Formats: sequence, C-alpha cells, structure tokens
Amino acid sequence: MDSLMIKGGTPLEGEVTISGAKNSTLPLMAATLLTREPCIIRRVPDLSDVKFMAQILASLGAQVKVDGSTVTIQANKISGYGDYDLIRKMRGSICILGPLLARLRKAKVSLPGGCVIGARPIDLHLKGMQALGTKIEIESGYVNCTAKRLLGSEVFLGGRAGPTVLGTANVMMAATLAEGVTLIESAACEPEVVDLANFLNAMGAKISGAGSPTITITGVKELHGAEHEVIPDRVEAATYAIAAAATDGEVTIHGARMDHMGAVLDKMREAGVKIERSGPSFKVKRGGQLKPVDIITQPYAGFPTDAQAQMMVLMMCTPGISIITERIFESRFMHVSELSRLGADIALEGPSAIVKGGKKLSGAPVMASDLRASAALVIAGLVGRGKTLVKRIYHLDRGYENIDEKLRKLGAWIERVEET
Ligand code: EPZ
Repeated sequence: MDSLMIKGGTPLEGEVTISGAKNSTLPLMAATLLTREPCIIRRVPDLSDVKFMAQILASLGAQVKVDGSTVTIQANKISGYGDYDLIRKMRGSICILGPLLARLRKAKVSLPGGCVIGARPIDLHLKGMQALGTKIEIESGYVNCTAKRLLGSEVFLGGRAGPTVLGTANVMMAATLAEGVTLIESAACEPEVVDLANFLNAMGAKISGAGSPTITITGVKELHGAEHEVIPDRVEAATYAIAAAATDGEVTIHGARMDHMGAVLDKMREAGVKIERSGPSFKVKRGGQLKPVDIITQPYAGFPTDAQAQMMVLMMCTPGISIITERIFESRFMHVSELSRLGADIALEGPSAIVKGGKKLSGAPVMASDLRASAALVIAGLVGRGKTLVKRIYHLDRGYENIDEKLRKLGAWIERVEET
C-alpha cells in the first residue's frame, strides 16, 4: 500500500490542468446501460473509482474499452444482477440502479452501506423508484427492484440535508424510458446532474430543467448511442486553488469551469486570496495576510462539502478564528484529529469546527480516512515545516488523477513510497 512523503515549506508555482470530473464520470458511465448502442465518453479521469465502475459494467455484460481518457461502452446484452462485492465497495455505483430498471424493468444490487463521512442511506433513491411503480424488496444485503411497467410520476426528492445528487441522477435515468412524464421536485442542481442530462438528451432522452430544483422527463421508447465530453472536476480545481493560497504560491489553473466554482472562489476572495481570470484559465495567489472566514456547507450552488476539509487547512494558515459548519454529512470531520498532529488548533462543537488559525505547522505521520480528508492532509503537509507521511493514499487515488506528479510540476517535494 502506498503512502506520500511530503517535505513542506515550498510555495506552489506554475500551471496545472484539471481532469474530467469523477462525480460526473460515474453516472455517465452508468447511463450507457440505457442503450444497446456504443457510447463514447471523453476526458475520463484515470482513477480507481472509474476502474471500479468499468469492472461493474463488465460484470453486468457490457463491453468496456479504455483508450487513454476515452472510454467506449456498449451494453448490448446485460443482466440486471450486479456483482455484490464490487458494488458494495464503491457507493457511487448505486447509480446503475435507475438505468438497469429502465432498460430491463428489474435490478438487483447490493446495498451501498455507510462510509466514514456518514450513514448515507438510499431511501430517497428508492422513494423515486417506487413513485415510478417499482416494487422494492431489501433482502440479504440486496435491493431487489422489479416493475411490470415504469409509469411517469411526480416525486419530491428533498431529504434531511436537502436534495440528493446521485438520487436525482438515478430517478432521472429511470424516467427516461418510463411511460409518460416524470416531475422531480427538490432535485439536486449540481453541474454533474446537468452534465448527465446533456448526455441523456444526446442519447435521445427528453429532459428539461436540469440545474434547477424542478426537472421534467418525458419518457421515450428507447435511447441510442452518443458521444460526450465530461465536465472538468470543480473539486480538483478547488483543491489546487486552495493549495496555491495555503502555500503562499502562485498557480494558474487550466481547463476548469469557474462558473461551477462560485461559492469556493467567493469564500477564497473574502479571505483575501487573489483570483485573476486569464482567458479560460485563472490564477491564484495569496496576495498578503489572509483573514478568517466562516463556512457552511450546502447543496449546490452553496459551498461544497467536498471542499470543506481543504478550506479548513487554508483557515489553519490564517490568524484568527473561523467556524466551519458541515451541514451535508454528519461525520465529515475525520481529518481534524490528523490535522492536529501537524499542530493545528481545532475544536469540534456539534456540526462545527472552530479553527484557531495562524499556528506554525510541522510535519508528522498522518492517516487518510476518506478522499477529501486525504487531500487536506496533503495540503497541510505542503505547508508544514519538515516531512509529513500521508498513509492510506488509496483514498486519494479514488478521486485525484496523478496528484503527486501534478504537484511535483508545481515545485512540491512529494514522492510516493511503499508503506512499511
Ligand atoms: C455525491 O454523493 C458525491 N458523490 C459526493 O462526493 C458529494 O459529497 C455528495 O454528492 C454531495 O455533494 C458522487 O457523485 C459519486 P447525496 P451522493 O445523495 O449523491 C442524504 C466525493 O468526495 N441522503 O447528495 O451519495 C445523505 O446521507 C464524494 O467526491 C439521504 O438521506 O450524496 C447526505 O447527508 C463524497 N437519503 C445528503 O443526503 C438518500 O437517499 C446528500 O447526499 C440519499 C442521500
């Protein structure tokens, strides 16, 4: 198992190009199950989650061909029965449920189960499938869905923490081949939902309103193959932008969509970070003493929960008190205890972390617990004096393409080492 050894104290400088979005690629790959015809998806990031999804689709009977960042998938003959262990390992794979149900009127997939950041139930996904006329049985760790007919319907998908991203994607995909019109209320508005709707419409679906809380889907008889380019990864872009500011460096970010990053860039500007647009790219530099800001994570277009841990590190580098409140996942502060090993002063109070910033950080061995926590540990390691060893970086490889290479190109002292 690999770890990352980082020697901190070097400001990041130079240019970085953002990869395709993991959280768009997974539902896009699942959507190819909706047609017998080949689909071509471009700008697919080289990530372990993507490899997992390819294995899952192959286990259902689809042909998957990977050629660099272009993936061709043809789901001509498929079964509705997914590999238990493969699906259980990756939560994102739940989004095969809608396409299988739409195409085959049946689907049997393992329950995704919780993860370290929260219980993460799928009750809203199932509520949506039931609204379309699906019979659902949960038995021996499986969700077993069957439907004689899928009938368009109205469904409200708002939950305890607001809309659900993959729940919206799942119901939207199931409704594409249902009879009649489906209305999703309190739909998630994330750019990844819009990207999926654009791909489905390119396949012949009739979807309108994606990106707004109300999505309308008029069912069609069948869908055809299509080509699509994945949108850039706004969370990866936010991670490099925050790393640039935290290390007091100057980095130009290419290939990102600033219009997808409004809340993050706004909070960084509020803290005093200089963000300069240059054509389709933008440059990030600290530009003097930063000031503390308070963050509350919210559904899109609010501040993304997937950038909370990274922003916490920036606030650790900022003298003064900032309060970071996590409203989406109930236990997404696993990084706090590890960041404290590097000298951070953070107190947890219910859903909030109170960060006393400006403390000098020094390198230490730390353990990654989940994808975004590991990104925060890497940034803290780049800031801290001396060496930091980040263990269990398989979490990082799930969502960041070649992060150590990209950081080295920005002048970081970072290397992958065998874990002893
Ligand atoms: C997506 O997860 C992303 N994953 C997550 O990114 C991201 O954090 C999350 O959306 C929120 O933005 C992928 O796209 C693969 P949700 P998803 O359903 O769709 C509750 C990362 O770091 N909920 O929008 O699974 C749920 O427990 C990952 O890249 C229900 O209660 O998240 C949570 O509190 C982590 N019932 C909230 O809603 C349901 O049926 C939002 O979850 C579904 C969700």
